[in-house]
Amino acid sequence: MLRIGTFLIAMGSFICSLKAQRSGLAAVPPMGYMTWNFYADKITEQDVRTIADAMVANGLTGAGYQYIFIDDGWQGGRDKRNNIIPDAVKFPSGIKALADYVHSKGMKLGIYSDAAPLTCAGYTASLNFEEQDAATFAGWGIDYLKYDYCNAPSDSVTAKTRYKRMADALSASGRDIVFGICEWGGRQPWFWAKGAGGSLWRIAGDIRDKWSADNDAAGVEKGGIGILDAVKVDADIAAHAGDGGWNDPDMLVVGLYGRKGPSGDLGGIGCSDVEYQSQMSLWCLLAAPLMVSCDVAGMNEATKRILTNKNILAIDQDKLGKQAIRKINSDGRQVYVKPLENNEFAVGILNTGTAAIKADIGLPELGLEGKYTSLNVWNNEIRKDQKKLSYLIAPHETVVLRLTQAGAKK
Ligand code: GLA
Repeated sequence: MLRIGTFLIAMGSFICSLKAQRSGLAAVPPMGYMTWNFYADKITEQDVRTIADAMVANGLTGAGYQYIFIDDGWQGGRDKRNNIIPDAVKFPSGIKALADYVHSKGMKLGIYSDAAPLTCAGYTASLNFEEQDAATFAGWGIDYLKYDYCNAPSDSVTAKTRYKRMADALSASGRDIVFGICEWGGRQPWFWAKGAGGSLWRIAGDIRDKWSADNDAAGVEKGGIGILDAVKVDADIAAHAGDGGWNDPDMLVVGLYGRKGPSGDLGGIGCSDVEYQSQMSLWCLLAAPLMVSCDVAGMNEATKRILTNKNILAIDQDKLGKQAIRKINSDGRQVYVKPLENNEFAVGILNTGTAAIKADIGLPELGLEGKYTSLNVWNNEIRKDQKKLSYLIAPHETVVLRLTQAGAKK
């Protein structure tokens, strides 16, 4: 009996230490570039090098975007020993050489697989090769794995088992590899993904370059969800984010302008810069992983300005690690409050309507007593001794304020 007890305690602490080890891998939401929305499965090694160079040149790495995630389409099957290999035409130098290049730029490299025999785009995946593939990824110098769930059974038990198996394989590989769970929210991963070794988990389907889904007359959604649809899911599950595990509402569509890749293929015309800035605002308030997906080598000034704004990035990356709570959702207004370190707060006011509104929100309505200094993160306007937030807000705009109380520790 005593022996069984000792064994159970030892197992318990082993599992806890595995968990602790994995949960420390993304202390704040990861930031980087994900290839899917712009390159789809046409991604090549030269594209990844171009992305790395562009991210350094246009200030994205300096702003904190650290990863390049190679999404689906890199795989070339398995060799005679069943080792997964890259497509020799798209990645002629191999992934190790590419990881070395990305690391030489001070960045990290992510890769993609799926918990089934084949991925969503039909390429070789990792089911029953978890340990072997994790060891291969570690040997290449991979720092992050996005693990998809196409071609897998729909029940939750299988999903949890398959994700845990890959997370354990990553832990056993001897390299710190962040694990991104991508089963699109259907099995409510916010309840179990961290326990299965994930540092982040997709909460909804693939985001498209649009403000909101266009449903047909029968209410059936055509061609993917938009920014507001992902927010709708995320706003209700704030309590599950933090402590090294993050709700992931999918990539930033900022700067795509409806071009190329899966977003453009839907015939999308893309969003306006106001809407892109709103996505950035909402993702940072929601403590979301920030994965740029536009043409970084050809981005315009508006896109660069939105993606590299230090004030908004500091809200996403705040070490307290809290996701904003939606305090008001009525009359076309949504108001979010995100507690920050040192007793500061970020407040976001979103106008979901099609006409400008004048928002007048008393801070006590948001649970904030006393007077605050407010910094408008997008135009740097400072207002002192505020008890009320009064702002004119354009359609689909999100005003974001950083509130500091007199005497708060800086
Ligand atoms: C799924 C994922 C996307 C992308 C594609 C690749 O749809 O949700 O983010 O990874 O697969 O095939």
